[in-house]
Amino acid sequence: KTYNVAVLIGSLRKASINRKLALALADLAPQNLQLKIVEIGELPLYNEDIDVDPAPAAYTAFRQELNAADAVLFVTPEYNRSIPAPMKNAVDVASRPYGKSALSGKPAGVVSASPGAVGGFGANHQLRQALVFLDMPMLQQPEAYLGGAGNFFDDSGKLSDSVKPFLQKYIDTFAAWVEKTAKS
Ligand code: FNR
Repeated sequence: KTYNVAVLIGSLRKASINRKLALALADLAPQNLQLKIVEIGELPLYNEDIDVDPAPAAYTAFRQELNAADAVLFVTPEYNRSIPAPMKNAVDVASRPYGKSALSGKPAGVVSASPGAVGGFGANHQLRQALVFLDMPMLQQPEAYLGGAGNFFDDSGKLSDSVKPFLQKYIDTFAAWVEKTAKS
C-alpha cells in the first residue's frame, strides 16, 4: 500500500529552509510514502463567524486535502520560541468544525529547523502539544530539532552530506510509523 502524507510548512517565504527540507524529505522518502506539500499561506485567519455553511473555499479545500491524506508531516521554523502563526492557524482550521477534525487519528511527525543552535525546540514542542491534544499518534523518535540549518543547502540548493543521513533515518522511521498506525 502507498500512504499519502500531507506536508505542512510553517514558513511562507520563498527561500524557506524548512520548505527545502520538506522537499528533501519528499525525495528521500521510501516508495510507499508519497509526500505532498499542502499550502497554508492563503488560509484566512481562523474565525468562527466565517466558518459557517458555506465555509470559506480555502478552508474547505484545505480540509479535503487533509481528509484524503493518511498522515501529516509538519516542518516548521520557530518564531519567538513558539509556533509560527501560519502553522498554528492551519492546525486550528484543520481541527474544526468541532467533531470533524481533519487531523484526528492520523499519524504525524514534527520536524523543526533553525539557523540557530536550539533547532526550533520551542516551536516543535508546542506544536506537538496541540497535535497530541488533537489525537494524532505522534512519532516520538528520532526527534528532529535541526540547528545550524543555515548550512544545510549550498547556493545551488544541494543538501549537505552532514544532514542527509539523519533526514533519511527520520523519513524511514516515519514511514514505518505510518504503516503501523495509519487507519486502513
Ligand atoms: C525568527 N527566527 C527564530 N529562530 C529561532 O531559532 N528561534 C526563534 O525564536 C526565532 N524567532 C523568530 C521570529 C521571527 C518573527 C522571525 C521572522 C524569525 C529566525 C528563523 O529561525 C529564521 O528566519 C529561519 O530561517 C526561518 O525559517 P525558514 O523561513 O528559513 O524556513
